[in-house]
This record gives sequence, structure tokens and C-alpha cells, in this order.
Amino acid sequence: MGEFRTMGELERMAQYRLPKHVWDYANGGAGSEATLRRNRAALARLAIEQRVLVDVRNIDLSVDFLGVRLPMPAIVAPMGGLFRFWPQGELEMARGAGRDGCMATVSGVCRWPVEQVAEAATGPLLFQLYHNGPREWVQAKLERVHSCPVYKAVCLTVDVPLYGRRDRDLDNRYGARASEETQELPEPKPPDPEYPAQLTWADVDWLRQHVRLPFGLKGILSAADARIALDHGVDFIWVSNHGGRQLDSARATVEALPDVAEVVAGRVPIVVDGGFTRGSDVVKGLALGATVVAMGKAASWGLAAGGADGIAAMLRIIREETRLAMGLSGHTSMRELTPDVVRTAGAA
Ligand SMILES: Cc1cc2nc3c(=O)[nH]c(=O)nc-3n(C[C@H](O)[C@H](O)[C@H](O)COP(=O)(O)O)c2cc1C
Repeated sequence: MGEFRTMGELERMAQYRLPKHVWDYANGGAGSEATLRRNRAALARLAIEQRVLVDVRNIDLSVDFLGVRLPMPAIVAPMGGLFRFWPQGELEMARGAGRDGCMATVSGVCRWPVEQVAEAATGPLLFQLYHNGPREWVQAKLERVHSCPVYKAVCLTVDVPLYGRRDRDLDNRYGARASEETQELPEPKPPDPEYPAQLTWADVDWLRQHVRLPFGLKGILSAADARIALDHGVDFIWVSNHGGRQLDSARATVEALPDVAEVVAGRVPIVVDGGFTRGSDVVKGLALGATVVAMGKAASWGLAAGGADGIAAMLRIIREETRLAMGLSGHTSMRELTPDVVRTAGAA
């Protein structure tokens, strides 16, 4: 087949390979899918200011993130149930993402033991926690994560107090949670997926004390929550609306990002995700205050198209596109990306 060349090729191959209900599960959103569309529309409305006659022979895409030097400011977002995209999907993701030193996030509902994912990993990992059980269960899970040095940080996902109502899954009579998977998976399901409905900032305090790695919250979408998160001592903030899969009619992440960045004022790193599928999107995210951009669906296309090779190809394409977007807009380092690099423009 040869190497994948473009994001479009990966997306089309993924759609071709996956059964319709799995494609819809990955690429659909909650309710009317307003949030899902808005993420993309908001990115499309941003233009990158083109500056010329700058020496762009050497472009440095690397960034420091939570004590790790990354080759570029894009990481893989956590996704549960990757076995639906590729056999041993979560292991393949870890194998492919780190090939060029990139970071991948391991989902809290990963059905392979965190130790086994760590062993398969070729690069640094971030662990995404769901508080899907009582504190004893969370603590035991954290101990296992702490025992694997490849995990560099932990984030708690806070935008799933209730599970989103995903119309495509309902139409397809497909319940990823109730899950009718046929294969035996080594890691048992978490004991109580309804538990997060009761979580409050007190649980963040408790976790802050028990996580022995940099600790952040994933699913912050307002300046108000960002301020509270900082008051509770988080080490990073992940601006996300779960890729449009949770609250229908939420704000686009790229629109919420500047508000959060203003509150954070450089005190902690910011991750953003939601609709980022191109190198030019990465430049926009960084210009508006993110330290790194995370990609969910785009990574799922890579995985479904070609397993570990597909993920590695996807990250290489994003890296090349980001390098080009930097050079063609007259920038040579991520530090140069400030809000004036992007402008609101007509819809693309
Ligand atoms: C198939 C799929 C599964 C996901 N599973 C998780 C998960 O287990 N934990 C989590 O915090 N977020 C999960 N997410 C949300 C992603 O981490 C991320 O926030 C979102 O996909 C970003 O938007 P994008 O897909 O437009 O890049 C999932 C997303 C997808 C597409």
C-alpha cells in the first residue's frame, strides 16, 4: 500500500475499513451535533496572518510540556474502545505514536492493563482518568500508573458527569458503553460509570493529593472553571468539549481558548482539542494560547487506516503540515505564535 500521504487519505481509508456503526461512533457527536460542527466551523473562520521575507530555513516545532520535550506541539487525545478500530488498538496506538517521540494519552477506559500499554509504548504517555468507581478503586488504578515511568502526567476528565446522548449511536442501535464486543479483553470494565455524576471540586482536591505526577483537568470550557481549577492547584488545563460528544450546543473549544488563556496567564500549560485535524489548526491553537493541541478523531483515522503505521503516518503528516504553516506564515519557533497571528475571516 505504501505510506499514507495526506489526512484525507487516512480519513477515507478509515471510513472504508470501518463498519458504519463504528465510524459513526467515532465521528458523531451529541444530539444535533451543533458542538461537533461548531468546533470545525470556528477553526475554519480563523485565518493565519501571512508574513513574508523571513528566513525560514530552520523551523523549530519542539515544545516543553509537563517536563517532556516534544518534537511538535500535537499529542494524541484519549479514546476508549480502540479495539473497535484495530486489533489491540490501544497497544497499537502506543506503539505508533511514540515512533517520532510524540506523546499519546491512554484512556481511562482502555481495556488493556496500563502496564501492558506502557510496555508497548515507544514514547511518553499521559494517563486520562475517569473517576468511574469509589476512591479505593481510583487509588489502586493510580498506583498502577505511578509504577510505570513512561506515564508523565495524569488528567481527570470532568465533562462526562452524565454520558452524552449520541444520536448516531441511538439510530444505529449501538451502545458503546453497554458494548456487545465479542472478544475477550484483558482489563475489566470500571465498576461504576455513573459515579462521575457526584464529583465536585472536593474530589479534585483529593486527587491532587493522591496523584504523584503533574495533574490536570480535561473538559474545561470556561474562564470561571479555569480560575477555580488554578485555585485547586492543577498543573495543567485541558480545554475540551469532548469533541462535541457531550453537551450539545457547547462553545467551540477554539472560541473558549482565549478566555481560558487570559485567566491562566502562562501559569500552567494548556491543552486544547476539538476539531483539530490539520497542521494549520495546530498553529491556530498555539496562537490562541495552547501549549499543545490534542487530536482525537484524526488519530482514530490513522489507527483505523493502518494501525501503528497509520498513527505514525498521521503524526508525520501533521508535523509536516505544521512546519509548512509556520514557514509560509513567516514563523520559525512556537514562541512566536501570539494571538495576532490569527484573524477572524470569512468561512472557508
Ligand atoms: C472514539 C472516541 C473515544 C473517546 N474516548 C474518550 C475517553 O475515553 N476519555 C476522554 O477523556 N475522552 C475521550 N474522547 C474525547 C477525546 O479525548 C477528545 O476530547 C476529542 O476527541 C477531541 O476532539 P476531536 O475528536 O475533534 O479531535 C473520545 C473521543 C472519541 C472520538
